[in-house]
Amino acid sequence: MTAVVPQVDQPVFLDVDSVREDFPILKEHVHGKPLIYFDNGATSQKPIPVIEAMHRYYLQENSNIHRGVHLLSTQATIAYEQARSKVKSFINAGSENEVVFVRGTTEAINLVAQTYGRQNVKSGDEIILTAMEHHSNIVPWQLLAKQNGATIKVVPMTDQGELIIDEYEKMFTPRTRLVAVVHVSNSLGTVNPVHHMVEIAHRHGVPVLVDGAQAVQHMPVDMRAMQCDFYAFSAHKMYGPTGVGILYGREELLQDMPPYQGGGDMIRSVSFEETTFNELPYKFEAGTPNISGGIAFDATIDYVNQIGMHRIMAYENALMRYATESLLNIPGLRIIGTAKTKASVISFVLDGVHPHDVGTFLDLEGIAIRTGHHCTQPVMTFFGIPATSRVSLALYNKKEEIDVLVEALHKVRKTFG
Ligand code: ALA
Repeated sequence: MTAVVPQVDQPVFLDVDSVREDFPILKEHVHGKPLIYFDNGATSQKPIPVIEAMHRYYLQENSNIHRGVHLLSTQATIAYEQARSKVKSFINAGSENEVVFVRGTTEAINLVAQTYGRQNVKSGDEIILTAMEHHSNIVPWQLLAKQNGATIKVVPMTDQGELIIDEYEKMFTPRTRLVAVVHVSNSLGTVNPVHHMVEIAHRHGVPVLVDGAQAVQHMPVDMRAMQCDFYAFSAHKMYGPTGVGILYGREELLQDMPPYQGGGDMIRSVSFEETTFNELPYKFEAGTPNISGGIAFDATIDYVNQIGMHRIMAYENALMRYATESLLNIPGLRIIGTAKTKASVISFVLDGVHPHDVGTFLDLEGIAIRTGHHCTQPVMTFFGIPATSRVSLALYNKKEEIDVLVEALHKVRKTFG
């Protein structure tokens, strides 16, 4: 079954009940209550066409790619490379050579740090990060800075959770070698002005890596419009399988970068004296990849394209507004992250109740949220809190689920208040 959606002249309307039919897990019960899944920032649920693509691959097509002359291998290779082309179109990259398959956003960032970073960031050089980065866009740069003697600078943010762009502009020096910035904050929901930030960095001749893990599933992204140098994201947060991610890199940068891991498929020739490396993008893809995952990612992109990223964005924005207004009616609830432009994420604290207690209570009501620091400990330190409760929305969530959440939070208040 696939989602029935209206014609494009009704951009905000999305038949959510029909979409939900594509996600069988949403019919599950948890602790005897119907599941309400609000932990989409951690991972999204998967629609039937994605599950079927994976299933079909293992039932009928399983074979290794880029290696065999036999039919199954040739077919698997074609399907995997077709997935790469689909990704290229989805993000409007210039060519398939700019699309590197990795395990996820984290691996994509580590890849850039340990190849481009090792080659270009030297002792005394500077890397600019922001105050709202996920640990996976902090730690790889710290490891590099330790290895190479570089310095990390951090763009500050306001109490609303918006980056202070004037301060960012002032941070560039002749030693700045790279900017790494999150597109959508996983703990605050802020949508950062990445187009503008890329433009500023490029004026200083500095390349930019954008962490798109929480963006690609919520809004259209266009590499040629954004002009960033690297963009990293994962399939599993956008209704695809786990273990598949994408590093987009501008071709001329990827061309000059050394390989990441060594092994099969990334080489042209090997002897004990010398190895020469494969062409792009294979130079960065050592070893047998997640073939079924790549092929299922192709089906994922078809699925979201069929609904339309603009439609998904409009629907989710309306749901965000409804959820924000509803949650603010709960006494003692404070939203952490009140930027003007947000996507999907509502983090909050409830006076006198620890976020873990909120999470456990909601779980017993069938509602799945994430509680904790969300791999953004510096964000928690900035706001002077140990943790938040986080609701993160997806295209299959609906107003009635928000109403159940609000009712449950009133019960939390009564129980702990
Ligand atoms: N980075 C994911 C999250 O925000 C796991 O939950």
